[in-house]
Amino acid sequence: MDTYTVTFMPDDRSIQVRAGTTLLEAQRMAGYSPEAPCGGDGKCGKCTVEILQGAASGIQKACSVHVENDMTIRLSSLSAKNQILEKGVGRRIDISPWLPDMEKEDPSRQICLAAVDLGTTTIAAYLLDAGDGRTIAVDSCLNPQSPYGADVIKRCEYALAGGADILADCVHQAIDRLIQQMAQKSSLSPEQIVSVCIVGNSCMQHLFLHWPVDSLVAAPYLPYSKEPFVGPASDFQIHIHPQGRLWALPVIESFVGADTLACILATDLEKQEKLTLMIDIGTNGELVLSKNGRLLTCSTAAGPALEGAKISCGMRGGTGAIDHVTLDADRRLSYSTIGDCDAVGICGSGLLDLTACLLDLGIIDETGYMEEAFQITDKVRLTKQDVRELQLAKAAIAAGIRIMCQLWEVTLDEIEEVLIAGAFGNYMDPKSACAIGLLPLELSGKITPVGNAAGEGAKIAILNEKEFHRACRLAAQIDFLELANRPEFQDTFVDDLSFDQEGL
Ligand code: FES
Repeated sequence: MDTYTVTFMPDDRSIQVRAGTTLLEAQRMAGYSPEAPCGGDGKCGKCTVEILQGAASGIQKACSVHVENDMTIRLSSLSAKNQILEKGVGRRIDISPWLPDMEKEDPSRQICLAAVDLGTTTIAAYLLDAGDGRTIAVDSCLNPQSPYGADVIKRCEYALAGGADILADCVHQAIDRLIQQMAQKSSLSPEQIVSVCIVGNSCMQHLFLHWPVDSLVAAPYLPYSKEPFVGPASDFQIHIHPQGRLWALPVIESFVGADTLACILATDLEKQEKLTLMIDIGTNGELVLSKNGRLLTCSTAAGPALEGAKISCGMRGGTGAIDHVTLDADRRLSYSTIGDCDAVGICGSGLLDLTACLLDLGIIDETGYMEEAFQITDKVRLTKQDVRELQLAKAAIAAGIRIMCQLWEVTLDEIEEVLIAGAFGNYMDPKSACAIGLLPLELSGKITPVGNAAGEGAKIAILNEKEFHRACRLAAQIDFLELANRPEFQDTFVDDLSFDQEGL
């Protein structure tokens, strides 16, 4: 079969590909992580590139163009550097990790551990000192599976279509790369790292562990296993100590994963005496209600709109994203961008703020109607469909919160504290979240961001073996609420589509 050269500008990087390869596939092969929320179905329009030479020139969807000549293309500025949340709110614990026998005998050698928060969009990794628990290095990257779909359903579909090995391999390699980079930066040998703890949502964890995903995406929607995993790290292409172990916390249910369990561990949620709600908003929204040792969890199908997917000018929180929008004293809009540069798109926190401002100005009404698309800059606008996508996302989360409260026979007013985990929750303005009804108004003033709590939980689980086992026991005790089975869900969800908070 013929092969051709594809050259990517502005990097001037070239690779050889077979005839018929799409430009999206060529980018992945060259090591890029292009935006492709629809997984290459030609529907999202986020994968555009500029063709400079070799085919009809101009802006084209990379997933729709097949290489039939030598080509030169310019990559979109949306491939710019992304902002990844690495920090979390940690708690003090005794340090007592598992160690290989040979390491117990040499107290003078510095021994290290690694913790990894494996997100659908991003991966954050931490290198820890096994002696005092100190974080020695932190590194992060985009999840290299992203070009195969923005959400977990798309990834599972790709795995079921024969791509499971590709998805597992790329994420194994990415995690190994982060670990090697952290060791190198810290002048340590990777062999000094004896254990790695991974936490991810159920889909990420299944794909990583090479577990089948068919039961996750088809009724009755069950995980392949709810057991924790402990095994040789080398089985996952992770190059550490020869006896190095990989530890994976258990998933709770098909759509409530080990990352949620890690958040519970990091915040000591089951020890809260007051009624506390924890929310982890990512490509899905996981909710946990807690009081006096009782825990109730559910997953809301918020979709990836809050991470910028499905929004016409949406993007992840990276350079050039509008991240905050405010009304000044003269009720004129002003905005800021990540990196303080020209706006190229809008990320989730900016989307919330912009919608809250347009509601305040009466440009969007309480049903979500607006007469025409709102242009915030020459390049960035908010369309009616964008507002609709946001309504679907926010209603899913708000309805989940209301139904959990109904089940426990408590009111929203009785919730004393709301802990928000994850990048989106950390960067969003809680006032905007309440103004648009992503969080019910009754929760206003009670909201505390806890940063990357999943990463903190992974650290705790690897620093103290007893904490790992405590988390495993907790996972088996958590009550799970399947929202889709609740008869009141549809009506509550429809009510929550409205921006009229007073009417609810
Ligand atoms: S349109 Fe190309 S990846 Fe979605």
